[in-house]
Amino acid sequence: MIDLARRIAEAADLVTVALDELLPRADGPESRLTEAMRYAALGPGKRLRTYFALETGRMFDAPERSVLRAACALECIQAYSLVHDDLPCMDDDDMRRGMPTVHRAYDEATAVLAGDALQAAAFEILAHPDTHPDGAVRAELVARLAIASGARGMVGGQMIDILGVRDDLGGVARMQRLKTGALIACAFELPLAVSRAQDAHRHAMLGFAHDLGLAYQIVDDLLDAEGDPDALGKAVGKDAAAGKANFVTLLGVEAARERLEVLRRQAKDHLEPFGEAAEFLRASVDFVLERRH
Ligand code: IPE
Ligand code: IPE
Ligand code: MG
Ligand code: MG
Ligand code: MG
Repeated sequence: MIDLARRIAEAADLVTVALDELLPRADGPESRLTEAMRYAALGPGKRLRTYFALETGRMFDAPERSVLRAACALECIQAYSLVHDDLPCMDDDDMRRGMPTVHRAYDEATAVLAGDALQAAAFEILAHPDTHPDGAVRAELVARLAIASGARGMVGGQMIDILGVRDDLGGVARMQRLKTGALIACAFELPLAVSRAQDAHRHAMLGFAHDLGLAYQIVDDLLDAEGDPDALGKAVGKDAAAGKANFVTLLGVEAARERLEVLRRQAKDHLEPFGEAAEFLRASVDFVLERRH
């Protein structure tokens, strides 16, 4: 019996302890900034991107220290993206990860700055020699995370989201690929870059990441439509109330679930070449599809 929940909990503990060490502390007036960064990044996130990175690192024999630092960088970007996503000028949310959002716990200016500084911290972590002795590998990690988080990735997707896609499944799929898919794919790309995996393996893993990332967002949209805000630690019903199209508002709950079943099979098929070595990642597809929070 594989105990995936335990593996994910262990990954979450590892990354939280590592982030606690890596994130700055300050005396003086900047302490408000560093405290807000810590509040955002050390809170109880699911840390699934970390889990995907560590599991991929194990599959491809990447040094754990390198992959854990890459996971810290991913979680800094994830935390920053959520802090900014929750701002009044974006989704205007009061709760995140079961706690008041950063602009609620502090104030808007502090939330903007904490997000900015978390983004910078991600690249500082990747660029440090402790992440990998070879500067070319570090440069590749920096470039991949920058592409996944910037205008051609997460931030580009957030722009499309804010402008609002209406009545267009292709448009929603493209928004998803940028807004959520790029950073999830990066959780696989970074350990693959550390281990210098061969192209055929990289392609199979990225096919998997693509299907998993799409499934992840469809589940997020389903939970937005019918999830429990207490279990989720964030508000629900936001997309429909804002008149925004997502997979569920466009397809309906039933068709969205059918699409998830196709993605479940398709994602697992990508892992075929890896046999037993991929059993935890295979199980993580079911975990993502069945999550309630
Ligand atoms: C939330 O991401 C936003 C989406 C991309 C759907 P997660 O659901 O992974 O949030 P945390 O990091 O666990 O809080
Ligand atoms: C945000 O998507 C994804 C990010 C890039 C932060 P959502 O706005 O749907 O995320 P939640 O539902 O607030 O977590
Ligand atoms: Mg949003
Ligand atoms: Mg939001
Ligand atoms: Mg959402």
